Amino acid sequence: MKQEMMTIVDQVQLAPRIFQMVLTGELVSYMEKPGQFLHISVPRTDLLLRRPISLNEINHKQRTCAIIYRVEGAGTQAFSQMQAGEQLDVLGPLGNGFDSTFLTPGQTAFIVGGGIGIPPMYELSRQLKANGVNVTHFLGYASKEVAYFQEEFQSLGPTYFATDDGSYGTKGTVATLLTTAIKQEQPQAVYACGANGMLKAVAELFPSHPNVFLSMEERMACGIGACYACVCPKKGDKIGSKNVKVCDEGPIFLANEVIL
Ligand code: FAD
Ligand code: FES
Repeated sequence: MKQEMMTIVDQVQLAPRIFQMVLTGELVSYMEKPGQFLHISVPRTDLLLRRPISLNEINHKQRTCAIIYRVEGAGTQAFSQMQAGEQLDVLGPLGNGFDSTFLTPGQTAFIVGGGIGIPPMYELSRQLKANGVNVTHFLGYASKEVAYFQEEFQSLGPTYFATDDGSYGTKGTVATLLTTAIKQEQPQAVYACGANGMLKAVAELFPSHPNVFLSMEERMACGIGACYACVCPKKGDKIGSKNVKVCDEGPIFLANEVIL
């Protein structure tokens, strides 16, 4: 982990309110695991808390990394107005990242992303494919208008799309897509990032699978395990005493570890 003023190399808008930003700096050499995130300071003196944003792509050769974010409030709004050449105060990489060490070449991973949970799944898929793992993607969006990064995933492996309103791909959610897919194939690992409801639906489709990894989202303050702002309850905890901190023990947990 390192704190650095990283320089913005590029910023493009991918869809309404959704931006991809490319950053460069020495910090890139610390970035290895997909699913880890950057804790980024908003360049406004009135917004004190950093904003957690997942790594979307790591490029060691070019010493760059990419993030994709959706404008939600004042912090992400400020990011969206920044230009190439400007700098951001970045702390990272934080969090545990996705574990894929148990997968061997020729095995299959199902990669599931919903909405603004899709970005980290791209670096995960790239790394798995580079290690000979077969990747199949299941991506869900609200509608065609806010769909992004389809071709990037298609270039790595079979990719199935769902939209809530049916304007692109199958009408429904990623759970609709997965219900069909698991009739044909049982993957050795399932990785998912998205809204809580989506994560719950994914976990329910693989009730006894040992390798279902979910990336959880909680509001964060310090991002490094010191403030307990980001706790979520652990499974098997009847008296509410066993919490996990999403920022440093997560954000990735096995589905059978946490209560959604
Ligand atoms: P505001 O609502 O004004 O934020 C106010 C405060 O609440 C800030 O401290 C902010 O950090 C916190 N906050 C608000 N929403 C969230 C949230 N959903 N999760 C955690 N903290 C929140 N968003 C993306 O668009 N792309 C990503 O790749 C991405 N990765 C994330 C990875 C992790 C591990 C977590 C926890 C969240 C991630 N988010 C991502 C959500 C993103 O952090 C929030 O949308 C963002 O912080 C909102 O800031 P804001 O100032 O625009 O909104
Ligand atoms: Fe401070 Fe997780 S955000 S402990």
